[in-house]
Amino acid sequence: MAEKPWDGRFEEKTDAAVEAFTSSIDIDRRLYTYDIDGSIAHCRMLAKSSIITEAESLALIDGLEKIRAEIATGAFTFSDRLEDIHMHIEDRLAAHVGGVSRKLHTGRSRNDQVALDVRLYLRDASRKIIQGLVNLRKTLVGMAHQYVDVTMPGYTHLQRAQPVLFSHHLMAYYEMFTRDTRRFEDGLKRINVMPLGAAALAGTTYPIDRAYTAQLLDFPEISENSMDAVSDRDFILEFLADASICMVHFSRFSEELVLWSSSEFKFIELSDGFSTGSSIMPQKKNPDVPELVRGKTGRVFGSLISLLTLMKSLPLAYNRDMQEDKAPLFDAVDTLIACVDIYTRMLPKIKINGDQMADALLTGYINATDMADYLVCRGMTFREAHGCVGRAVSYGLSHHKELHEMTIEELRSFSDLINEDIFPALTTRQMIDRRQSFGGTATVNVRAAVGRAEQRVADENRSINTF
Ligand code: ARG
Repeated sequence: MAEKPWDGRFEEKTDAAVEAFTSSIDIDRRLYTYDIDGSIAHCRMLAKSSIITEAESLALIDGLEKIRAEIATGAFTFSDRLEDIHMHIEDRLAAHVGGVSRKLHTGRSRNDQVALDVRLYLRDASRKIIQGLVNLRKTLVGMAHQYVDVTMPGYTHLQRAQPVLFSHHLMAYYEMFTRDTRRFEDGLKRINVMPLGAAALAGTTYPIDRAYTAQLLDFPEISENSMDAVSDRDFILEFLADASICMVHFSRFSEELVLWSSSEFKFIELSDGFSTGSSIMPQKKNPDVPELVRGKTGRVFGSLISLLTLMKSLPLAYNRDMQEDKAPLFDAVDTLIACVDIYTRMLPKIKINGDQMADALLTGYINATDMADYLVCRGMTFREAHGCVGRAVSYGLSHHKELHEMTIEELRSFSDLINEDIFPALTTRQMIDRRQSFGGTATVNVRAAVGRAEQRVADENRSINTF
């Protein structure tokens, strides 16, 4: 092969500094197997459309498979001179199959080729993430099942608000990760569109059969517009937005795990295998895994912002700027997969201190709403009841007493609607189990929600390969 495929038009050789500057091989080499899959489908389509012969197609495919094996085993040499993975493979093909290698690129451009490769890559990555999220959700549901009865304070403004089941809290994250799963599934519809055949930007003069290429590569759709096909990266933007939202959920969960494992809360204890120590303070056991997940959230947001900035104002169609899409994309995919994986391993090993959580329910006037509800049930308006309980709380604060620690006489001084039956109404169990509105924290609701979720993750696990 000539030194460069575009050599014909140039009088001077490419400057070595430019070769180094424009090369993307260190990043895009990981697309090699998708590039080869795409090239094989392209060869088969060219033969079927009689653009090359069947024998030529078979020779090309044979050479491409040899290159796949060479790269997989580390026997392949990469160099900046050949810029990217597409040129490396085409160049090496000449060594395996000789002159016929120069027919591979018929009716194709690197512009539609790279769009195809990234779509194939992201389709696989999305499926891996979806499978990972299903496993994570299964783990969460398993924990919710195991600890269904454990009670804890629910917070607003990080102040104790009302009692909830710990399982209800876990199931809140289950819901978030379920929506994340749905978003990635939905994004697959936009990823799963076959761009090959758009060529450089305008389509090609050869009688290609794009539907056949799509069928070979298992794409349900082909792109409608060649200029859009080579210049669109919104399927990546959408993926990065979905990944960022998923990381928001991880970062919130992480923040809670960090707080809960502090001496101030002591609600949980991370296992030794998932904690690290301090090089100076012998007593320390640090929650580095959730801290790092919280920190890595920034990297994924960064990838989204990078790509938004990269694509903003680019004229149609392909621009070399777009080569910069891969580093942030790969980094976000790797980061997200690592976070999903480590969480799925870490969560089941967490020790839950149910007694400590229950103790936290005994102070902080967490039963104030329930006292107001008690008064409403006995005829007071909610606003009046709110004021009345507010006065009881104020009295309690100055006398160092919780509502349930006051005598019946003290309580009746705020309203004569109060009777002895107020005490059971102020217990954690009743406060939780009376919240039976759909989606509320009553044990019966949470058990049912856990049951539905168990069924859902089992079904999803079975159908995982059908997107
Ligand atoms: N390495 C390039 C990229 O990732 C491939 C496309 C190059 N096309 C071109 N016309 N220079 O975007």
